[in-house]
Formats: sequence, C-alpha cells, structure tokens
Amino acid sequence: MARKKFVAGNWKMNTTLAEAKALATALAQGVGTSTAADVAVCPPYPWLVPVHEALKGSSVGLGAQDVSHEPKGAFTGEVSTAMIKEAGCKYVVLGHSERRHILGESDVEVHLKLHTAVEAGLYVILCMGETLVEREKGLAERVFQRQVYSAVAGITDEQWSRIIIAYEPVWAIGTGKTATPDQAQNAHYFIRTKIRSLHGEKIANALPILYGGSVTADTAAGLFSQPDVDGGLVGGASLKADQFLAIVKAAGN
Ligand code: PGA
Repeated sequence: MARKKFVAGNWKMNTTLAEAKALATALAQGVGTSTAADVAVCPPYPWLVPVHEALKGSSVGLGAQDVSHEPKGAFTGEVSTAMIKEAGCKYVVLGHSERRHILGESDVEVHLKLHTAVEAGLYVILCMGETLVEREKGLAERVFQRQVYSAVAGITDEQWSRIIIAYEPVWAIGTGKTATPDQAQNAHYFIRTKIRSLHGEKIANALPILYGGSVTADTAAGLFSQPDVDGGLVGGASLKADQFLAIVKAAGN
C-alpha cells in the first residue's frame, strides 16, 4: 500500500499572534477538509490554542516544536505532553537540529522525550540529519545510529505507528541549499533499509520519512516524487500561506 504524503510546517520562533492566526486561517481555508495528504502546522507554544481554534473545521493538524519528558512539577520553562495535548496537539517535533546543535539537546534527552510522547499517544516527527562535515566524511551510518537508533531503542511495534522520521541535512536547513531529489531519495532509502533490517518489513514499509531543508514550492514536487520521500518538514516556506499551500498541493492535496 502506498504511504500517504505528509507535509508539516515548522514555524520555529516566528510570527506574532495576529500573523499566526491569519496564517492558520488561510491554511484552514486552503486545505479545507481534504485528506489526500496529511497536513500539520507547528507554531510556537503560546500560539497553540489560538491556532487550534483557527484550524477548527479543517483537516490541518496541530503540532508542538518540542516537549518535556517530565510529566509535571518543578521544571521551570518546560511544557508537558498533557499540556500540548490539551492545547490540541496531535504531533510533536523532536530532535530538531536547531535544538541539537544550537541548544545542546542530547541523544539521551531525545530518547526520553520520544518515549514520553508516544506513550502519551502523540505522533512524533523525529528529526535527524548530518552536518556538512559528517556528510563529507561519509558518516551517514553513524549519524543514523546516534540520532535515530538511540532515540527509538525500546519502542514497541504499536508505538512505531506514531513515529515519523524527518531527514533534514543540517547543511540544507534555512540555507536555500535543498538536497537534490536523488540525494534525498538515497538518504531516505538508506534510513528505510536500516529500519527494515532492525525492525522488519511491516514497520519499515509503513514508516513515513519526510524531507526537510529549504523545501519550497519549486522543489517540493521533485522531492515528493521520489519513492521513499513521503512529504516534507518545511520551515521558511511554511510562513507564507500561498507557498505552503503550493507545497501541500505538490503532496497531492
Ligand atoms: P527550512 O527549515 O525549510 O527553513 O530549511 C526546515 C526545518 O528546519 O525543519
């Protein structure tokens, strides 16, 4: 069975409240109730509730950009899975390279967060990707080992159905340098083959693997036409309704 395409917008630390509401309203109108592809947006925490309101009646899902692995308590500044769920989230992005490389998030933290999130019933968009130096040294295998395999260790077959991988080469994020469709396909094929050998055919075949890194309305169709590219995690281009809707369209919606 063909995997359904999925496009998620990662708004990062952008938008005012008014901009967030306007963007969500435009996306809700543009996507409507179409389910040809899955679509989600991940606004900053304070805008989750108003964006959820603006998306009501549409098939656009809501995600958070991170979550704590602690359930509740004295953890100043942290936000729990129960909180983001109550705010309307179905998804959460974990292990984004900006968190790993700029904010120093470790593989252990990503592992703990991923387990907490899937146990809470959330769908996790688990990010992985090599830096330029790692790519040039041919370390793709080691990056996979470190960022994906360590994160999913101990995940049950049932929980695998709530995991989405986003392959985001660090050198392509926010740089305007998109991986070519061939580069993306090769990386996605490698990831799927690894998952197949570790977790079996069924999980590997069902696993959505998104591409992220300077996806635009112009590059989306070429990327999404690759057999192992199941959609995209979109940063910059998700902040403009017309561009994001064009990317969603390239995914079949
Ligand atoms: P970009 O970001 O599309 O702006 O490169 C993608 C991401 O970081 O998820």
